[in-house]
Amino acid sequence: MLTQWHEDMATGSEAVDKQHRELLRRVDDLLKGAKSRKGAEEVGRLMWFLKKYVRWHFRDEEKLMLEAGYPGYQSHKVQHEIFFREVLRLESLHVEQGDNTLMIVAVITAMCEWLRSHFNKLDKEFIDFLKDTGQNGNGNGGSCGSPEGNGEQ
Ligand SMILES: [Fe+2]
Ligand SMILES: [Fe+2]
Repeated sequence: MLTQWHEDMATGSEAVDKQHRELLRRVDDLLKGAKSRKGAEEVGRLMWFLKKYVRWHFRDEEKLMLEAGYPGYQSHKVQHEIFFREVLRLESLHVEQGDNTLMIVAVITAMCEWLRSHFNKLDKEFIDFLKDTGQNGNGNGGSCGSPEGNGEQ
C-alpha cells in the first residue's frame, strides 16, 4: 500500500520517524475519505488536517537543521516548499472540482511517491549528518508527535 510505513523508510531518528508515520497516516485518512465518498466537506477537513501536519513537520525538521548547522538546509527547505505547494494545489483543486475522487487519488499517489523518496534520501542524509556530528536528531524534547496543542486549531 502506498501510504503504508515500511521499516526501510526509517531515518534512524525516533522523533522524525514518528512524525513521518503520522504524516502517512493523515495521507491515508484523506485517501480513504476520498475513496469512500465521505463528502466534500469531510474530505476538505481531512485535507486541512494533513496540510497542518505537513507544515508543522517541515518547520520542525528545518528548525532541527538550523540548530544543527546543517549545510544542506537551503536545498532541503526548497524541497519542502515544493511539496507544500502541491498540498495547496490539491486543496484548491478540491475547492474547484468538489468531490473528484479520481483527481484526489492521482495527486495523493504522486505525493506518496514524493514522500517516500524524500524520507529515503534527503531526510536520511540529514539524520546521517546529525549522527556524524554527534547529535541525536530528537530535538530539544519538544519535537515529537503532533503539532502544538492537539492539531485541531
Ligand atoms: Fe524533509
Ligand atoms: Fe521529513
